[in-house]
Amino acid sequence: MRKKTASEARLASRARTAARGSPETSGAGCGSKDDPRPGVTDEASTNSFETFAERIDMLKRTHRCGELRSSDEGEEVTVGGWVSNWRDHGGLIFLDIRDRYGVVQVVFNPEEDEDLHSRAGELRSEYCIGVRGLVQPRPEGMENPDVKTGQIEVRARELEVFSESETPPFNVQNAAGVSREVRQKYRFLDMRRPEVQRNFIFRHRLAQTVRRFFDSEDFLEVETPFLTKSTPEGARDYLVPSRVNPGKFYALPQSPQLFKQVLMVGGMDRYFQIVKCFRDEDLRADRQPEFTQVDMEMSFADEEDVLDCTEALLERRFDELLDEDISPPLPRMTFREAMEKYGTDAPDLRFGLEIRDISDISETCDFRVFSGAVEDGGQVRGICVPDGASLPRSDIDDLIDWVEQFGAKGLAWFKMEDGEAKSGVSKFFSEGEISSIAERFGAGDGDLLLFVADQKSVCDRTLANLRTHMAEKMDLIDEDAYELCWVVEAPQFERDEETGALVPLHHPFTAPFEEDLEKMESEPTGVRTRSYDIVLNGIELGGGSVRISDPELQLRVLRLLGIDEDEAEEKFGFLLQALRYGAPPHAGIALGLDRMTTCMLGLDDIRETIAFPKTQKAVSPFTGAPTSVHEDQLDELHISTEEPVEEE
Ligand code: AMO
Ligand code: AMP
Repeated sequence: MRKKTASEARLASRARTAARGSPETSGAGCGSKDDPRPGVTDEASTNSFETFAERIDMLKRTHRCGELRSSDEGEEVTVGGWVSNWRDHGGLIFLDIRDRYGVVQVVFNPEEDEDLHSRAGELRSEYCIGVRGLVQPRPEGMENPDVKTGQIEVRARELEVFSESETPPFNVQNAAGVSREVRQKYRFLDMRRPEVQRNFIFRHRLAQTVRRFFDSEDFLEVETPFLTKSTPEGARDYLVPSRVNPGKFYALPQSPQLFKQVLMVGGMDRYFQIVKCFRDEDLRADRQPEFTQVDMEMSFADEEDVLDCTEALLERRFDELLDEDISPPLPRMTFREAMEKYGTDAPDLRFGLEIRDISDISETCDFRVFSGAVEDGGQVRGICVPDGASLPRSDIDDLIDWVEQFGAKGLAWFKMEDGEAKSGVSKFFSEGEISSIAERFGAGDGDLLLFVADQKSVCDRTLANLRTHMAEKMDLIDEDAYELCWVVEAPQFERDEETGALVPLHHPFTAPFEEDLEKMESEPTGVRTRSYDIVLNGIELGGGSVRISDPELQLRVLRLLGIDEDEAEEKFGFLLQALRYGAPPHAGIALGLDRMTTCMLGLDDIRETIAFPKTQKAVSPFTGAPTSVHEDQLDELHISTEEPVEEE
């Protein structure tokens, strides 16, 4: 049981004395000689004090519901909480009271107090009540080993209804099947559930231990502004109009990236912050428009320092909070290797199904879909699904339809059976080609080979998704495993698929490798950066890099992104200026706290770890935000709006 703090112990003993109706009671609480509040004297408050004492009496719990144990038997206790289960057993009324610490059973006996019993009969689910009573053992055979308080019950002597509840829209005890929307709309009921509280408690512990870790490593927690200028992290900005600067807007930060770099120039040496970030982007199960980063930056540091520090942070959190040993150093792979083997820069290493390239074998084969793709500058890549040959043809046909959503034009397959490749298309391949393909995958009888022939980006996207899909379908994922890895050396730029323009893969403040500088202009997509992402079970937990600390190099990178010197000065002048005044070499990382909590707890949606999250449409089901605002407010902000056009 948790030890009581001194003040809780004092209040508890006060409540017990008050309950016994002792004359000393009047010395306690409001109106006592010790009361430091001016104007509160014994005489002045004697009358009102009786009622106040009574209220204090029931408000001041001696115990939390989930704390009571057999060792409390015989004690008179006061508990408070919500009615979670109510049943009438032949005269005796039993109810469970729930608080954050658990549930305790309370029993009302009409033979002991008829009036109290009949009041208990009027209680309903989710009423907020206080009960005083005697802790007694449950009758033999009635113990409940599934509940920590299952050996005892409280024999009620007094009952206070603090507030009634309307009939809840769902059963708080059993919310299985209740939609997330409804749960989020009534989040105050949802969060009375132990499952939800567990997530909040875990997140709280994670945040506290992260803070302690950074403090012990000499990192300073520094707050950075929310009303600021745009930071390019790849999403749209949330803008805030400035009333006193007509026509001007602040941007909510997509991250504190530029400020933390400036803090390094300012000699802060080591910075961290647990900080809200805002990004207007397409939302998914692992993305929210506002989310929290564990953000850090270190001076006189390179990638090894940041990786070491992050690994130490994660190692201790996994150990303390999950009793898991992640055994650093964590594996590292380059961005290129990740894309080749997994089709994504956030590979899930809980299962194999590695992608292999058979473009070289396909080039000369008679299957035009394959050889044509290679001729057109594309690739033929695939995966080998162990035991997949047992899948019925209809499942494979479904897969062919399924991959269309990723832009694939089809899915070719071989079932390896009796030493042969069985497929509608195997006739186009020579025996030698088939055995080379099988060898490349190490495929044997019973395996299913699946191939995509297309441009690299389509192969990557399709096979990355197919890999996970097949792992789920064939039950290859160990749901209890935590597979972490670093993905390093992302390219500085990639080409936008639609416009062909260069866009940064990380943000544009990421340092390129010295030896790649010479191809910055001639072959920009071949420039690798000193970046690193940490990936857990296929989810990017965090990312960071060594930064550019030379203002000239910074301008050169921005120039390639189509940002000329004037625009750079206008947008990031404050950073460029700081870099001109003695910037130390620096590097850092940001971990998504919401994602960390989600992954560590094995949840399927980031929203389960956020108290008041938003829907996929960036709407708060709880507050209803965003809403329209009054015309006057818009006028003050010098904003006029057009009504959105109703879609037909
Ligand atoms: P990055 O953009 O990779 O890096 O973000 C770091 C981490 O923040 C989390 N994250 C999100 N979580 C929930 N919802 C979102 N919409 C969302 N977007 C990002 C992810 C991600 O890995 N300034 C750099 C860090 C650096 O270079 O130090 C940055 O923000 O877990
Ligand atoms: P078809 O010749 O179009 O009937 O296709 C024969 C097989 O090749 C089918 O299984 C198709 O799904 C598959 N296929 C078609 N296009 C592609 C492609 N680009 N990549 C991989 N398989 C393909």
